[in-house]
Amino acid sequence: MNDFPQFEYQQDTLHAESVSLETIAKEYGTPCYVYSRAALTATYHEFEQAFANDDYLICYAVKANSNLAVLNLLARLGSGFDIVSGGELQRVIKAGGDPGKIVFSGVGKMADEMRMALAADILCFNVESIAELQLLNQIAAAMNKTAPVSLRVNPDVDARTHPYISTGLKENKFGIPIEEAEHIYLSTDIFPHIQFIGVDCHIGSQLTELDPFVQAGEKLVSLLHRLRAHNQQITHLDLGGGLGIRYTNEALPSIHDYVAALRQTLGQLKLRLLIEPGRSLIGNAGLLLTRTAYIKHTPDRHFAIVDAAMNDLMRPSLYKAYHQILPVIKRKGDLCNYQIVGPVCETGDFLGHDRKLILEGGDLLAVMSAGAYGMSMSSNYNTRPRAAEVMVDGDTVHLIRARETIDQLTASEAILQT
Ligand code: LLP
Repeated sequence: MNDFPQFEYQQDTLHAESVSLETIAKEYGTPCYVYSRAALTATYHEFEQAFANDDYLICYAVKANSNLAVLNLLARLGSGFDIVSGGELQRVIKAGGDPGKIVFSGVGKMADEMRMALAADILCFNVESIAELQLLNQIAAAMNKTAPVSLRVNPDVDARTHPYISTGLKENKFGIPIEEAEHIYLSTDIFPHIQFIGVDCHIGSQLTELDPFVQAGEKLVSLLHRLRAHNQQITHLDLGGGLGIRYTNEALPSIHDYVAALRQTLGQLKLRLLIEPGRSLIGNAGLLLTRTAYIKHTPDRHFAIVDAAMNDLMRPSLYKAYHQILPVIKRKGDLCNYQIVGPVCETGDFLGHDRKLILEGGDLLAVMSAGAYGMSMSSNYNTRPRAAEVMVDGDTVHLIRARETIDQLTASEAILQT
């Protein structure tokens, strides 16, 4: 199975849709994130089709990739959004997203962010603690509003993924223990400016099995039955994001099977199902294009020093994540075992270890599966301007974020005047 149908070789040159990556590198420089509009659209439709005629809402997790063009395309497809900050709220609104389709997640929403979201009339706050609920109730009261709320419950389920992105175990900072949630849902008299409309969870990211989703779903559904028995009318169930993508050779459930498993956990329960996919929507719709600056052979190792670094794509350094690295132009010759590293002054600055490639200085490489948590986690470490981003649509390339300039990096800094 080809995970990148929109990134394929044509006459030995890797293309994004109909455009050669060599052309993109010449025109926009490197490092450069390259996204495929067709890939993003096709994946969104796959989710839609899997839900068939159900009552559902896809709330794209903005943190995966928050470029305005990405958000705008998803808004045009009818998507909702899962945000975790006031900044993400402003991005979604700027990109034409419907506030009525926004859910607001996160353990640490600040008062001004709550105000902003209440003023925008978002769909729902996913609340993670009693203290947060109290503050939200107070702020809503002061604004003469009622805040729509789901409690994010922690179902204590092992997502069996990298510990840094596992969020549904009781020792994690996320959510309200499921045993305590029922009591809070029934305390409506203490929170007159809160309206409970949903139940929510998110157990982790890059899950490669369905079982943890089903276990969590079943626990939430059983809570919902108990709430209904008390006449508490909840209208939606939000099962978060987390479906993984194939970075290498992981065996993965399809989007269809994932959605089918979630739908099945509902049983006879009639309500709206929300999901918050990030990575599974955009991950394989993007790559990071980089140029080899130097080839360096030492007695121990062969290094390809490229112009992208850990500040551009942090995942390998932070999680030891594996991203496939493909040559943009296939060369003939002998394979050599390369360490693909960036210019940043840390041994942890690498994009890939032990990659068998045929390379010369100046060659372009494509770091695959970089559409999610690539650009959105990038930084200016080593005063490196952030990469450009382009979106390919057929034979057209749109610049969706210009490469940063050094002047922009220092624009808000000041030296002492005395
Ligand atoms: N909803 C909530 C509340 C979340 O915290 C997340 C991700 C999502 C949805 C989307 O999850 P996804 O469908 O993308 O798995 N930086 C890490 C991933 C962090 C995920 C954090 N939360 C990485 O690069 O792997």
